[in-house]
Amino acid sequence: MPTKKRKVYSNIGRSEETDNGGSDNSSEGKSRSPERSLLTWRRVFGRVVLCVGVMMIIYITQKKDSEQVFAKQSETVQGRKQEIPCSKDYENELTRFKGCVPQRCGRLVTDWLVAPQEAAQLLSIAKKGLAHGGSSGGASIFDLHSGALSHGDNFVNIYKLMKKEGKRTLFTQHDFEIYKKVKDKIHHMIATEFGILPQKLYLTHPTFFSQMSNKLAKTKHDEYWHIHVDKETYGSFHYTSLLYLSDYDVDFTGGRFIYVDKSVNLTLEPKMGRVVAFTSGSENPHYVERVNSGIRYALTVSFTCNKKYAIDDLSTNNLNQQHS
Ligand SMILES: *[C@@H]1O[C@H](CO)[C@@H](O)[C@H](O)[C@H]1NC(C)=O
Repeated sequence: MPTKKRKVYSNIGRSEETDNGGSDNSSEGKSRSPERSLLTWRRVFGRVVLCVGVMMIIYITQKKDSEQVFAKQSETVQGRKQEIPCSKDYENELTRFKGCVPQRCGRLVTDWLVAPQEAAQLLSIAKKGLAHGGSSGGASIFDLHSGALSHGDNFVNIYKLMKKEGKRTLFTQHDFEIYKKVKDKIHHMIATEFGILPQKLYLTHPTFFSQMSNKLAKTKHDEYWHIHVDKETYGSFHYTSLLYLSDYDVDFTGGRFIYVDKSVNLTLEPKMGRVVAFTSGSENPHYVERVNSGIRYALTVSFTCNKKYAIDDLSTNNLNQQHS
């Protein structure tokens, strides 16, 4: 008997055999019924866990398929490029702006172009300007060229504002030098990477600092999260570049940059000093996710092939003219 009993108990983890063994003795069978329900419960639980696991794997792999990361904040990218076919947007411009209009389209990202001190200096310029204004909603801009600065539900001109307040210039010669140096580096990188002539490519308007937060939008200027094409939104753009002046998941959450492709979204996590550049046509629809917390700073530097839309470089002369 003891050997049999042991056998029965050793079989408890399995299924039908245990029940048969238990039927020798009715009282023993009764006493085991709670155990049996526990077994059933465990089996059900095991299957549920398995199902949830399988579903999670499917979800994660599908999510992976519909969302790819172009560059993470935590990595340092020397240079990464994704070539995509150009849209038809440029067809009528190919002869008109020969040597500038993209024949190879795409996006690129690099953390090696702009030095940390240069990015830090540009961030301080952005903050100096924005300290004199700021949108009542979630997105503020400051354009060092025109002086346009978000202010409440509108814009003011910071150069006029400073003049009115009788203030000496906020910005130093060094500020303008760094700004121009960084702009020139981006200009040359775009020309090299897209295989065009730098002298046929011009800086254009608007080129501006942006500051984004999770404040509720007050005007349509605050709604930065809509999917758009820069060539349609701004008209003059042929190449768009962005220099990030704060870090995703460190200085702010949300606020990733996203290229919307047909079957996949390509996300880019902002990083201090990171430059991203892309052709501005409808091959590159994109948006910025809403910022959930913190403040996101960036500089948009825009380029055109159309000389008519070219804007001048910044210089102290420029600034003095604005003052007088
Ligand atoms: C890409 O993002 C947009 C906006 O959030 C969304 O509507 C679209 O479904 C996403 N595409 C894919 C393939 O996930």
